[in-house]
Amino acid sequence: MRAKDIREKAGEEPITMLTAYDAPTAELVDEAGVDAVLVGDSVGNTRLGYDSTLPVTVDEMASLTAAVARATDDALVVADMPFLSYGADEDEAVENCGRMLKEADADAIKLESGPHTVELTRRLTRLGVPVQAHLGLTPQRENETGLFRQGTDEESARRILDLAREHEAAGAFSLVLEHVPANLAASVTEALDIPTIGIGAGPDCDGQVLVVDEVIGLSERTAPFSQKFGDVRGEMREAIGDYAEAVESGEFPADEHSHHEDEVDDVY
Ligand code: KIV
Repeated sequence: MRAKDIREKAGEEPITMLTAYDAPTAELVDEAGVDAVLVGDSVGNTRLGYDSTLPVTVDEMASLTAAVARATDDALVVADMPFLSYGADEDEAVENCGRMLKEADADAIKLESGPHTVELTRRLTRLGVPVQAHLGLTPQRENETGLFRQGTDEESARRILDLAREHEAAGAFSLVLEHVPANLAASVTEALDIPTIGIGAGPDCDGQVLVVDEVIGLSERTAPFSQKFGDVRGEMREAIGDYAEAVESGEFPADEHSHHEDEVDDVY
């Protein structure tokens, strides 16, 4: 799948996107026929033990993206650009984004967008780096906005719509809309030719994205707009507990887990 295939799905069948941060998860997501795998900087909270996404580095994202890309045959692999890897110096931003395609084999990058990413989106697109924009709740701005719903009054809703149009004009191939009112997401979707992919943005977007840890039930908490479709945390807890008990009781390892060699019988 290429960025242009995702762009062409706007208004057609629903686009599916899910995060993955490692090869085995990416393999399962790809096998399920999900259209796009997002190596999200949400890995900071979900897997790296941070309280926010802010500490995640470009090196970490490159390494995780490479693992996901190695395990993915069909889905589009999108690398999320971490906090301050873009937005300050434009040449440095282009280099950081380019690394995701050159070194990590991503197919596209995602930028948490704002007025500061319009020109960068244009430049990257012209250079051949497909850009997915992201508006609404953008967790990298949590110190400024908090992790709250966005676009809830007329002025901020209009700002989101204007920025969506500007990023489309700058060449973005799709737009993630996070935690905005469903009716605003429907208006943005109607206004754009590129697809919108919602997370907490109602049913009228062209597609949906969620954090895989919440979908499989690995994380302790689930966002109110998300849904737990499994209980991997419960399964892991049970398996790990059973293992510890089996070792403590001497049940593991059993004969079938061991091997013996006659030649080494007399070695002391
Ligand atoms: O980092 C992430 O996982 C994301 C999605 C929630 C859209 O940006």
